[in-house]
Amino acid sequence: MPSFSVYIMDMIFATHNEHKTQEARAILGEEWNLKNLREIGCMEEIPETANTLQGNALQKVQYVVEHYHTNCFADDTGLEVEALYGAPGVYSARYAGEHCTYQDNVNKLLAEMKGMTNRKACFKTVVALVLDGETHLFEGRVDGQIIEEPRGTAGFGYDPVFMPDGYDQTFAEMGDAEKNSISHRGRAMRKLIDFLKDKTAEK
Ligand code: IMP
Repeated sequence: MPSFSVYIMDMIFATHNEHKTQEARAILGEEWNLKNLREIGCMEEIPETANTLQGNALQKVQYVVEHYHTNCFADDTGLEVEALYGAPGVYSARYAGEHCTYQDNVNKLLAEMKGMTNRKACFKTVVALVLDGETHLFEGRVDGQIIEEPRGTAGFGYDPVFMPDGYDQTFAEMGDAEKNSISHRGRAMRKLIDFLKDKTAEK
């Protein structure tokens, strides 16, 4: 019987979001032992005080590397609206205030954009990875329009008001698979995962 060596590499995803963890685990496959923050016993909120997506992603990943001494990646996402000079951007999660809901954010966005004809917007995700002490960045972007009335119930955040270019449905009217195939986060995560798969193939 031939014997095969199997390398299983440890990787932390610096998130408390179980949905994002499952998604990444499914794409990464069995060569990676992927754990999220809860699974390594990190229950604290990691500070995200930078004023760029890249800065926040790096802040999260560096915190985990310093405290847990392991390979890690983190993501940060923002919605940039052209007519609002890039707002809410890095402040997308708390656009309507510190403890606001997704609905509060959507209401504030629609109020700010009332009467505006330029509805162009994009979602951007930055993923920061520290692998064997080296830092790598991956970006994903999707362009679209902010519609005037929310449509659809799937997804989260600004999905009901974001219609990607080339589609006549909002993200909240699409299934997960279709959204992931074109979304900012899907694109950034696929770049990360292609990079990690190449690394596994080198071993
Ligand atoms: P996070 O960096 O993934 O936590 O995203 C920051 C904020 O951006 C979230 O709280 C949401 O308001 C918004 N956001 C991120 N990703 C999406 C998405 O795929 N659809 C809609 N809103 C999103």
